[in-house]
Amino acid sequence: METRFLAADRPGDIEAAAKLLRANQVVALPTETVYGLAANALSEGAVAEIYRAKQRPADNPLIVHVTGTAQAFKLTEHIPTAVVEMATSLMAAFWPGPLTIILPKCAQVPDIVTAGRPDVGLRCPAHPAFQAVLEACGFPLAAPSANPAGRPSPTTARQVFAELHGRIPAVLDGGPATVGLESTVLSLSAENGQPLLLRPGGVTLEALEALIGPVVVDQAVHAPLVSGQAPSAPGMKYRHYAPVTPLEIFPGSPTEALEYLAKHSAERIGILGFAEHCETFKGFPFVAYGSRFDGAAQAHSLFGALRQVDELQADRVLAFPPPAQDGMFAAVQNRLRKAAGFKEVSGY
Ligand code: TXA
Ligand code: MG
Repeated sequence: METRFLAADRPGDIEAAAKLLRANQVVALPTETVYGLAANALSEGAVAEIYRAKQRPADNPLIVHVTGTAQAFKLTEHIPTAVVEMATSLMAAFWPGPLTIILPKCAQVPDIVTAGRPDVGLRCPAHPAFQAVLEACGFPLAAPSANPAGRPSPTTARQVFAELHGRIPAVLDGGPATVGLESTVLSLSAENGQPLLLRPGGVTLEALEALIGPVVVDQAVHAPLVSGQAPSAPGMKYRHYAPVTPLEIFPGSPTEALEYLAKHSAERIGILGFAEHCETFKGFPFVAYGSRFDGAAQAHSLFGALRQVDELQADRVLAFPPPAQDGMFAAVQNRLRKAAGFKEVSGY
């Protein structure tokens, strides 16, 4: 299969993407978080194509992208009034934007979208090209991140093309993703009505709590799952974002890292650190992911940096984590620690 490279600002290309989607094909589309691999969410056959192209495990549900609140609620049913109110105020505050809200689904949403679960993740993306395609189609679009399963999510159309060409009919280039990490996933479908954060992202925990009060953070956000434990979001159980080169979190200082490198000089050890570390690690294989105190910059460049890690040709790579856990740092911590399989260097 030939993969077409469409451009969001070229006349006719939005319509070309919509035409493929109407024909039950998949198209990679830009969002403000990462690129997504989209298909008609109401067509079982179209959604099956997403799983095939990504080689995504069949038990990992997809997020459904909508034009706004009205289309979102059409896909849900039997929601308690208090939850409707909470969802409505979240949508008003954060949509369009990087927030996915999980609510009880209606029968019109095929089981393949939600991997058999009774609830569906809904998100209204902010990227104008994605919105234009949604408007042109008139139906909601299921879209996971447009990477082969297990790889870092793509933040440019070129990355999508490099990994999925020949497997999908088209990718629509809408420029680099501005946020750089996937959306925040918040479940409102617990029986007790307690909001549960399944994945930190561009809408921070602090911003959610300021609007709706206390949010419980799922334990899989900060720690590996205990074997045999069923995760709240099936995606949590898969190794994610992983470079091929083994990655370990280094909790010490740059000076301690230099001592560690000297002690292990027989190995080729790389560093994934901050822009401020460039000079310190001169002469060592080094990749930076933003500035140490700038969570948004780290989010923006982390996935690109994880892709570069494999170019260092290192035996293993030590990663400096962000200096805090709050705000955007929470999402960066989560993706980085998952990429490292939650492994940390000790005894340095
Ligand atoms: O920013 C994003 O959310 C991007 C762009 C393309 O919109 N999409 C994305 O999708 O990151 P994906 O499939 O890579 O990640 C979706 C995550 C997975 O961990 C999945 O298990 C979880 O959300 N999820 C989706 N629907 C769910 C549901 N009904 N219940 C629990 N978890 C769900
Ligand atoms: Mg993904």
